[in-house]
Amino acid sequence: MTTHRDPTRLRSHRWFGVNDLRSFGHRSRAKQMGFDRQDFAGKPVIGIINTWSDINPCHTHFKQRVEDAKRGVYQAGGFPLEIPAMSLSEPFQKPTTMLYRNLLALEVEELMRSYPLDGVVLMGGCDKTTPALVMGALSADLPAIFLPAGPMLRGRWAGQVLGSGSDTWKYWAKLRTGEITQEQWEGIEDGIARSPGHCMTMGTASTMTSAVEAMGLSLPGAASIPAAFSAHAQMGAATGREIVEMVWEGRTPGSLVTRESVADAVTVVLALAGSTNSVIHLLAIAGRAGVELTLADFDELSRRVPVLANLRPSGTYLMEDFYDAGGLRGLMARLGDLLHLDRPTVNGRTLGENLAGAQVYDDDVIRTPETALSTEGGLAILRGSLAPDGAVIKTTAATPSLLRHTGPAVVFDDYDDLAARIDDPDLDVTADSVLVLRGSGPVGGPGMPEWGMLPIPRKLLAQGVEDMVRISDARMSGTSYGTCVLHVAPESAVGGPLALVRTGDLIELDVARRRLELLVDPAELERRRADWRPPVSPYQRGYARAALSRMGQADTGCDFDFLEGRGGNPEPAIH
Ligand code: FES
Ligand code: MG
Repeated sequence: MTTHRDPTRLRSHRWFGVNDLRSFGHRSRAKQMGFDRQDFAGKPVIGIINTWSDINPCHTHFKQRVEDAKRGVYQAGGFPLEIPAMSLSEPFQKPTTMLYRNLLALEVEELMRSYPLDGVVLMGGCDKTTPALVMGALSADLPAIFLPAGPMLRGRWAGQVLGSGSDTWKYWAKLRTGEITQEQWEGIEDGIARSPGHCMTMGTASTMTSAVEAMGLSLPGAASIPAAFSAHAQMGAATGREIVEMVWEGRTPGSLVTRESVADAVTVVLALAGSTNSVIHLLAIAGRAGVELTLADFDELSRRVPVLANLRPSGTYLMEDFYDAGGLRGLMARLGDLLHLDRPTVNGRTLGENLAGAQVYDDDVIRTPETALSTEGGLAILRGSLAPDGAVIKTTAATPSLLRHTGPAVVFDDYDDLAARIDDPDLDVTADSVLVLRGSGPVGGPGMPEWGMLPIPRKLLAQGVEDMVRISDARMSGTSYGTCVLHVAPESAVGGPLALVRTGDLIELDVARRRLELLVDPAELERRRADWRPPVSPYQRGYARAALSRMGQADTGCDFDFLEGRGGNPEPAIH
């Protein structure tokens, strides 16, 4: 055992354990911080990478949770150090947090590489923080465990249960048509977000934390615990204990994220009717792990994975109900053979071992395959002349009668154009029209903002129209709903066919056949292409300029080309 736990084999030994001029500096500076040899000598150094910030409402409890994680690290004989990283705050950061996902991933990777760390706890949860932390950790490939922020408690207003995002969209539409008053709208503002934690619908946050747990990078059960519950603090300490073990065992994310574990993450996302954003993030995560994953895999799995989670926006309940009903472990136990139960996870046990004894306590919240919300998964991948490299639709959030529809396009060149004209009483639009928004992809947006749930024109809302076919190169919030075709690739800004659509062109959507066709003569499209000029980006300096020149398209996960994969960087020299 002593050789197994040999501290001279720790990465941090090069900083603290040797006897030379530089290590004198490292030790004396650790002592300057109030530590002494007993704190660090021979112990795994655990970085706790914390995406807390005063402007991230989903991570307000992280100041306390980092202390819980440290407690666990100390219990297990490690030396914890909190290391803050950029916080990506979904509600506040513009034009979209997605523009900064790769920047956080880059920061995480470089923090892990440049400091004397043997392993890390990754603290995140608000939408893009989760994929960013995991992407960075995969590329650095030191032992890493993800501590999810956990969902906030149910929202409440006037006796109604409120869900993040989903009910914002719902009641905004009611305000616009006069079904609720301004005073009621303000009551909803008071009640919809009333505890620490991330969005508690099955939005991007819960989708991604669940996917990462399914992949085997969090302790079993972690993703479902509401942030405000005592169990969440206990999970923080357990995570701190586990990472110390992982260091001694040499369990890295690269050894856990395999073709099987990524497929299981996709399966879980489908069974949750999770956010469409997860398609992009899982493609990027797979790219970091060197695991093959394509849009076709999502479509293939979607045809056989039933939707078991009855959660908004596709269903009825919220994450607090999901936790009480047995949480992700309960759901995964019901997926059984659809998952790869023999593969390893962070705690050294197999997925099957982690699911042993998992139960479901409410069959309405977590359905059985026989009572599934849908016998197929919630996502479909479309292709055709309008999306040669693919597009995504969340079928469970769509109107069934619109899943096969042909209608004339009403085209908006960018978001400003949309905002200026969508509610114009003279806009030539009917319920059969197909609303098209371009200029909102990875390069054009920039960063693929969540504009894909285009608003229904006010005059149609007033006629009682609740849904229409909408198509864009944007993303959509995981809490959104409607018949929205998203992530059209290639995007318009790089010359995808979306750039060539004109108002009045017929567009055919046929989800059963997985088709999205622009019904325009190819010769006419060639004429239009000859006249097309790429838009000039207003981003001519700084991070955005670098990002937009190196960011991939939606069908490959929007990672920077130079960040895909791992390795290729030497361990830093210490002298
Ligand atoms: Fe942070 Fe929704 S705003 S998860
Ligand atoms: Mg969101």
